Parts: sequence; C-alpha cells; structure tokens
Amino acid sequence: MSQITVTGGKPLVGRVDLKGAKNLVTKAMVAALLGNTPSVLKDVPKISDVEVVSRLLELHGVIINHSDEGVMSLDPSNVESARMVDIDAHAGSSRIPILFCGPLLHRLGEAFIPDLGGCHIGDRPIDFHLEVLRNFGAVIEKLPNGTRMSAPDGLKGAKVSLPYPSVGATEQVLLTSVLAEGITELSGAAIEPEIMDLIAILQKMGAVISVDTDRVIRVEGVEKLHGYTHRALFDRNEAASWAAAALATQGDIFVGGARQPEMMTFLNVFRKVGGAFEIEDDGIRFYHPGGELNPVVIETDVHPGFMTDWQQPLVVALTQAKGLSIVHETVYENRFGFTDALNDMGAQIQIYRECLGGNPCRFGQRNFYHSAVISGPTALKAADIRVPDLRGGFSHMVAALAAEGTSHVSNVQLISRGYENFLDKLAALGADFSYTE
Ligand code: EPU
Repeated sequence: MSQITVTGGKPLVGRVDLKGAKNLVTKAMVAALLGNTPSVLKDVPKISDVEVVSRLLELHGVIINHSDEGVMSLDPSNVESARMVDIDAHAGSSRIPILFCGPLLHRLGEAFIPDLGGCHIGDRPIDFHLEVLRNFGAVIEKLPNGTRMSAPDGLKGAKVSLPYPSVGATEQVLLTSVLAEGITELSGAAIEPEIMDLIAILQKMGAVISVDTDRVIRVEGVEKLHGYTHRALFDRNEAASWAAAALATQGDIFVGGARQPEMMTFLNVFRKVGGAFEIEDDGIRFYHPGGELNPVVIETDVHPGFMTDWQQPLVVALTQAKGLSIVHETVYENRFGFTDALNDMGAQIQIYRECLGGNPCRFGQRNFYHSAVISGPTALKAADIRVPDLRGGFSHMVAALAAEGTSHVSNVQLISRGYENFLDKLAALGADFSYTE
C-alpha cells in the first residue's frame, strides 16, 4: 500500500495542467466499440480508470495505443467475445463496465459484465441501467460473478424515462440507442457537460441525437457508425480540486486547460467563500487573496447545480472560513465519511440526517447522514490517515498539506484513479512530501 509523508502548513504555489475528464474519456473509449473504423481520442490521462477500461476493451479485441502525449487510438475492427474468467478478473475495479452492454450487444449479440467497483459513497445500484437495457429488448441474467445479457431480437429504440437524472443511465441510453432500430426518446436525462461531449463524439461518428428542453434527448437510430477524432473535454472535477487546494493552503495555483463555461457554478461559490480567480485563454488562476474566508450554504445537485465531486476538497477550505457553512449532499446518500478524518485533524464538522440549508431531497426522513455543518475557522493538525475513496482521499491530502506538522497518508494509490501524475503535480506546487510504495 502506497503512503505519503507530508509536512503541511506551506501554500501550494505553481501550475498544473489538466487533461481530459475521467468521466468523459472512459465513456468515449467505450463509444469507440460502436464504430466500424478506428477512433482517435486526444488528451487521455494516464490514470488507473483509463487502464481498467483499456484492458477490458483489449480483452474484446480492440487494439489500443496510448502515447505519452495523451493521444489514444482505438481500433475495434476485430471485436470478439472475451472469456468470462478474464473479464471477471476486473470485477470491482470500476463502474464503467456496465456501459459496455449496449455496444457489445450491438457488435456481438451478447455481453458479460463483471460485478462493479468504484468509490464507496452510497449503494450505487444499477437498477436504472438494467431497466433501460430491458426497454431496448435486452434479456438479462444475473450470474454469481456478474451479469450476462443477450438480445435475441436485436435492440429497438424505446421511450425511456429516468426517475432521477443519472449520468451513467443517460450514457447507457445514448450508447445503446444510437445503433438501435428506430427512435428513442429519453426524458429525465442528465445533461452534464461530459454527457454533451459524449453526444458530440457520437454525432461525429454518424449518430443523430437532439437535446431538447426539459431534459429530453431524442435519438434516431442509424445502421452504422464510423470512428471519431476528438479532443476530450477538460477535467472540471480536477480543476475544482486544485482550486480548493489553493484556497485551503493559502496558495496560488494556475490550472492549465480549465475553462469558465463548464465551471460557472463552482466559480460563483469559490468567489462567495472568498477565493479569487483570473480567467485566461489557456486556464484559470485560483488563489487565496488574503483576509478571512466566508461561510457558505451549498447544495450539491445534477448539472447545472454544484457537483457532488466538488464538495469534498472545498469542505477542507470551509474549515478555514469564519462561521457556519452547510453542505447538503443530494446526489449520493453516503458521501461524508471522509469528514471523520478531518475531525481527527481538528476540524469541527457535524453530519446530520436532515436536509439542511436547502430544499428537501430524496434522502430526507431516511437514515442517511447527508448534510454537514462545518464550523470554522479551526487550525488543522497533522494525523495518520487512510484514503477512503477518490475525492475524499484528495480532500485528506489537501488537509494534510494545510495542517501544521507531519502527516502520513496511506492508500494514496486510490487518488491515481482520477488524478494523473498526482505526485509530480504536488512536487511542482512546492509540497513538502516523500512517497513510499
Ligand atoms: N442511481 C440509482 N440507480 C442507477 C444509477 C444511479 O439509484 O441505476 C443513483 C445513484 O445511486 C446516485 C444517483 O443515482 O445516488 C446519481 O448517480 P449517477 O448514475 O448520476 O452517477 P454515476 O454515473 O455512477 C458519475 C460519475 C461520478 C459522479 C456522478 C454524478 C463516472 C464514472 N462517475 O457516476 O463521479 O459523482 O456521475 O455526477 O462518470 C468521481 O468522479 O469521483 C465520481 C464518483
């Protein structure tokens, strides 16, 4: 298990450069399965989620080349069924395999999906995905080690309505409908920028997709798609993470590749907390302008709301704001586990079952601790911490970097699931740390 020993209390200052969004790139790689010619995806980060999806695609006969500059070519000319035992070796490592279903059913008439992994931030069921696939005509069989699917009569366009605008289920509909026979109408769709970028990729491949008002997406199935060439949308979750790190450590970080339009909601909150930013053509500078930070009330939500993946690093900065901040998490029911370690480091964060500070959400009146009250400012002190998940882990690293003294942060390999060259970036920002495998 990898560990970082970090001496905090020093502002992070310097520049980091982003590549494509983890939550787009991995889906764009799956989309390449739908083409009858090779695809080229640019700005692909070297992170372990990309590795997992690459291995799974290769098991299905896709030939992949990923250059050091981040250019990935994917040749799906010889797609074939993979051996169940080989697929199973990837069980529990990611959530992306569920998105292989539609493309594999189109290409091969069958699919086998291992049991899923991903961060432990709630139950994360796949009921919407399975229901969507059934709507298209898939026959689903749960096996002890995964899920097998077939489409004896082919996949046909469907009228689908999601009970919640799930990102993954919307992508499932897109990746399945583009080659399904006839028209698909999806209501209750998620409209995150990563989804819009996936739609752009599918359109480049030959798909016919329109995004209407009120979360309705219409797809006219086509008979075949070809490969694409595309530069992936930047990783706005990583951009927000470094922005929060700049604020929490009283630092100054230029995030190369970050863009304003996809980050407007974050920028508003960042400014209200007391952070400063300057938008340039090639990125955004985030910094602590001096003075006190202000408490805020935030409710996480689907786009265009405040993303759930932004709250964890920002909570660390909020421990330094004067007064009471409230964060109401409405996307995942169990995403405040990371605050225990922050409290051990001197933060004062209480979590509640009630929907605090905003509108009642679907987790209210149930046994989910999904609202946090952060009372500040509190000095953070060093501690020994074990990284629990990707975003929570990043926030622990930020807390260790902001705290006085020397902390030991273990299980840090989880952070590399979503942050490319994490250690090199920390070094470039002047962090004082050493790393042991
Ligand atoms: N949900 C269901 N049933 C389903 C699918 C989802 O109940 O079949 C629920 C989930 O349990 C959750 C809510 O719907 O409460 C939203 O889940 P969604 O499907 O939107 O999330 P996801 O597609 O699994 C992606 C990102 C997450 C990000 C969310 C929200 C990827 C690989 N993951 O997850 O990213 O938080 O959308 O934007 O794209 C991360 O990057 O650290 C991360 C967790």
